Amino acid sequence: MSKQSSYSREPVDKKAFTEAADRLYDRWAGHYDIAIRFLPFWRQWLDQSLPYLVGPRVLEISFGTGYLMSRYAGLYECHGIDYNRTMVATAQRNLKRAGVAAELVEGNVEDLPYVNGAFDSVLITMAFTAYPDADRAMTEIHRVLRPGGRLLLIDVNFPSDGNRLGTWLTQRWQAGGDIVRDLPALLRHYSFSVEDREIGGFGSIHLTLAEKSFSS
Ligand SMILES: C[S@@+](CC[C@H](N)C(=O)[O-])C[C@H]1O[C@@H](n2cnc3c(N)ncnc32)[C@H](O)[C@@H]1O
Repeated sequence: MSKQSSYSREPVDKKAFTEAADRLYDRWAGHYDIAIRFLPFWRQWLDQSLPYLVGPRVLEISFGTGYLMSRYAGLYECHGIDYNRTMVATAQRNLKRAGVAAELVEGNVEDLPYVNGAFDSVLITMAFTAYPDADRAMTEIHRVLRPGGRLLLIDVNFPSDGNRLGTWLTQRWQAGGDIVRDLPALLRHYSFSVEDREIGGFGSIHLTLAEKSFSS
């Protein structure tokens, strides 16, 4: 089976998709927070984005319980947006406990409450596969980045060498409801320059570094 034919179908009822995921996060936010603390490999994946952040203004979309943000919020002017209210409340508590500050809001990646070109970096980890409308999300992400700004994504994709274990792991994420897409191709469509690296999970976890062109 080719990689192309294995990518996920886009959900038909996008609103229902987001609402179902939101109900799940309401129920599981507490467990999610504990899981992040006790899963060293998950933290190790997320941490790999940190050296590529550029400031001074950083936006993290879908920050979840705020683990990654607590690692860099002291260094930048930090903003965050997440759809799930329980995640936002949990992240606020975690940031306070870590002694760092960030401007957090509840909201949808498809309708970002920021002006054009507001951010030097946008960071999204393990969340793009939860967005039911890739084009609406990418249009907004592209809009709020400044020309030359950086988009850092960590997410699930297929291993480039097609190894069986990595492919199987990616398929497990799909079976759990994640929408696995050809992210580098999508980014190029929006005129980003793109570098894609496999950082874990036998090639199933990717760090995608993208730069917004000065002319778009
Ligand atoms: C799997 S969690 C990832 C959390 C964190 N970034 C991490 O790497 O652990 C996915 C997050 O995406 C958020 N999310 C899902 N759909 C969203 C949307 N349409 N707009 C903004 N955030 C969304 C969820 O509320 C949840 O916090």
